[in-house]
Amino acid sequence: MTCIKKKRKKSLNFKNESKISDGLDPDKIPTHVGIIMDGNGRWAKKRKLNRINGHNRGAETVRTVVRSAREMGISFLTLYAFSTENWERPKTEVMALMKLLKRFLVEEQNELLENNIRLNAIGQTHRLPKDVTQVLDYALELTAKNSGMVLTLALSYGGRSEIAMAAAKIAEDAVRHKIELGEITPELLSKYLYTHGMPDPDLVIRTSGEMRISNFLLWQIAYSEIYFTHTLWPDLDKAEFHAIIKDYQLRQRRFGKIPSE
Ligand code: FPP
Repeated sequence: MTCIKKKRKKSLNFKNESKISDGLDPDKIPTHVGIIMDGNGRWAKKRKLNRINGHNRGAETVRTVVRSAREMGISFLTLYAFSTENWERPKTEVMALMKLLKRFLVEEQNELLENNIRLNAIGQTHRLPKDVTQVLDYALELTAKNSGMVLTLALSYGGRSEIAMAAAKIAEDAVRHKIELGEITPELLSKYLYTHGMPDPDLVIRTSGEMRISNFLLWQIAYSEIYFTHTLWPDLDKAEFHAIIKDYQLRQRRFGKIPSE
């Protein structure tokens, strides 16, 4: 009884909670969901629009998914917004993505505050244009005390570079005798990653039908459930996001062990 009361009380804090949680098991909501947002370009091409239009629509989906994740009670949402490889795209596209990111960071501040969402960023953020890092830093600071959900944007992020960076820092600490060689374990390495302090993703979603990981959270997704959908990112809506979480709830996670009877 106490338990039910607690859950009801929590749900009052979320907008439309009763609707969004229909059919979902509140005890099996993934703690951390990572998303590889793919298909903006193809969405635009199908409509004879330019790729930038696709990214603009993709930013709308970001808003929908963030809101929906918060309503469902997901604690960590990590979005792959810009990879280290994306710098190789035509300059006009990179600049448009940066402009879009900056606009998002400015326009979403109130939404983040109202919904108690803490913004976080992982990746080589020093490579972002100065005007973007300025608004990013401001938004990070502004939302630092929020405790409802952590929204992490992977920006200029690459999983291999992240692991290499961690290995270099570990080597440096070993040389300085801050750590012993025998202390180097997977748990220790995790602490040297951008994601230290965050749980590993329970679920990784990739849109657009591509079935690959593309350098996203390589270390952290060792035991994540993966969900691929053919839907292009701008077309992903609340209903499908909800259905994906429902699918996740039906899976049996074994972490390399045998299922319990
Ligand atoms: C992949 O689609 C998407 C990206 C490289 C950028 C992701 C950006 C957004 C979703 C919008 C802005 C983000 C924020 C956080 C405001 P693609 O361009 O590779 O699509 P394609 O494979 O169909 O060409």
